[in-house]
Parts: sequence; structure tokens; C-alpha cells
Amino acid sequence: MISAKMEKVLNEQINEELFSSYLYLSMASYFENTKYTGFAQWMRIQSHEEYEHAMKFFEFIIELGGKVTLAAIEKPKAKWTSPKNAFEEALKHELHITDKINKLADLAIEEKNHAVGSFLKWFVDEQVEEVSHAQGIVDKFDLIGDSKGSLFMLDRELGKRSKD
Ligand code: FEO
Repeated sequence: MISAKMEKVLNEQINEELFSSYLYLSMASYFENTKYTGFAQWMRIQSHEEYEHAMKFFEFIIELGGKVTLAAIEKPKAKWTSPKNAFEEALKHELHITDKINKLADLAIEEKNHAVGSFLKWFVDEQVEEVSHAQGIVDKFDLIGDSKGSLFMLDRELGKRSKD
């Protein structure tokens, strides 16, 4: 059982996760267009993970006897000023999602909804991982500076990412 308020915010989180998927897919397209095929591959996988996050919320709402109501997905940006800029925005976006998950967890506590609290635990942990990964990549861009050779190597390294 979930309250109308909880049902609403869980539905909003489906939209947040689908927008995340869309944003990273747009970044994948940007990287393909700029010939950074490794970064593009990393973003493709990330986009797919976000779709899976959305589906976890989708299935959970149904499991709780709630109703899924899908809303329009915002149009993502299509261009960034540099590969580093795109990853910085990915990090900023993950911090935003972490905030959303934390607010959801706060509501679960407020409503004493232990089922939702337990479900969200996976997402709380996942966000720690996602922010850490994105931060780690931004840190590497900082180390690289203007070195084209190192940028090429980082592109190759991130391109090795495969679906878990
Ligand atoms: Fe599903 Fe990257 O947050």
C-alpha cells in the first residue's frame, strides 16, 4: 500500500530515470558525432542502466498495487563544449538524482513506509557508486589537461565498459 503522495513521487522518479537515460543517450550521440567512440560506448551503457532504474520503479509501483502514469520526457541537451564538459554535467546530474532519491527516502521515513524504504536502499547505494564513478572520470580529465594522447587513451579505456 502506498499513499497518493508516495505514488506521485515514485512516478516522478520514473520520469527522472527515463530523462537520465535520454540525457546519456544524447551524450552518446554527441560523442559519436565528435568521434570519441569509447566515451559514446560508456554513455550507451549508462543510458541502458538508467532505463533499468526506471523499470525498477515501474515494477515496484505495480507490485505495491499503485498506478504507473507516464509523463512527457524533457528534451535533453544535444551539445557540450568538450568531452570533459559532458562528463561534468553527467556528474552534476547524478548529484541531482542523489538528492531526489534522498528526498524519496525521507518521505518513506516520514510515512513510516518500510517497504518503500527497503526498496530505496538499493538506489541509495547505487547513487554512491554512480557519483563516485562520474567524479573519478572528471578527476581523470583534470589530470589529462590538454594532452590529446591521454584523452585518446581515456576514450579507449572507457570504451571497454560493457553491460554488467
Ligand atoms: Fe539512475 Fe544515474 O541514476
